[in-house]
Amino acid sequence: MEVIIQPNAEAVGRYAARVVTRVMRGRLAPVLGLATGTTPLPLYQELIRLHREEALDFGACSTFNLDEYVGLPARHPQSYRSFMQEHLLSRINVPPERVHIPDGMAEDIATACADYEEAIRKADGIDVQVLGIGTSGHIGFNEPTSSLRSRTRIKTLTDRTRRDNARFFGTEEDVPHHVITMGIGTILDSRRCLMLATGAGKAPAVAAMIEGPLTAMCPASALQMHPQVTVVLDEAAASALTHGSYYRWVYENKPAWQRD
Ligand code: F6R
Repeated sequence: MEVIIQPNAEAVGRYAARVVTRVMRGRLAPVLGLATGTTPLPLYQELIRLHREEALDFGACSTFNLDEYVGLPARHPQSYRSFMQEHLLSRINVPPERVHIPDGMAEDIATACADYEEAIRKADGIDVQVLGIGTSGHIGFNEPTSSLRSRTRIKTLTDRTRRDNARFFGTEEDVPHHVITMGIGTILDSRRCLMLATGAGKAPAVAAMIEGPLTAMCPASALQMHPQVTVVLDEAAASALTHGSYYRWVYENKPAWQRD
């Protein structure tokens, strides 16, 4: 894992945007894996700025989101489809027919999940998967004890995640119990993973992901098995790491041509 520590959330977003644009420039038809939540917002703002001010072109891109709430119609303000429209997709030029977000209203969820996996395969896999981490250590909505080889499926949120996400809904009771999420195996199939974490609240989960044992109790630790993971943290999210000075030295001494 490459661990990059930046001064604040905005710098994390700018660094992450450099990774995404580098991946995009290396592919004719880039496939971007996207996440929702607070963490990737500075990344999305920077991508929008690059699109507007520097003509970054998303016209050949496809996108696949990690997850969606079960039972929320696409137009519901808290659906992840609405979130993506508002914070990124309506402001850049990804062709709408190449935007993929799991269908939380599917009548046959098992078939919808299998179709989602098939759509990712047909697109030739995900070039870069953007990830955030839950305080529970989840990636996507793979909560602790998720199978490390899981594929896209329905999952039940933990109370902790429902509490964390209540800020978007107003009350905890309104947060759905179920989601469709890419599995950990699905995420690990991406050619590159770009994990972002900001804020002191994420520090214990970040330390468990990077320096803890590989365990289903911290699903993000499965990223230890992926050959190309870049973790971009702000100082607060990095504060529980025991090897912080090592990561900084490695980054500062990285040859210029290897940098994103
Ligand atoms: C969102 C997702 C989740 C979030 C995580 C962190 O699509 O898959 O894993 O990345 O819950 O959320 P924030 O960024 O809101 O702290």
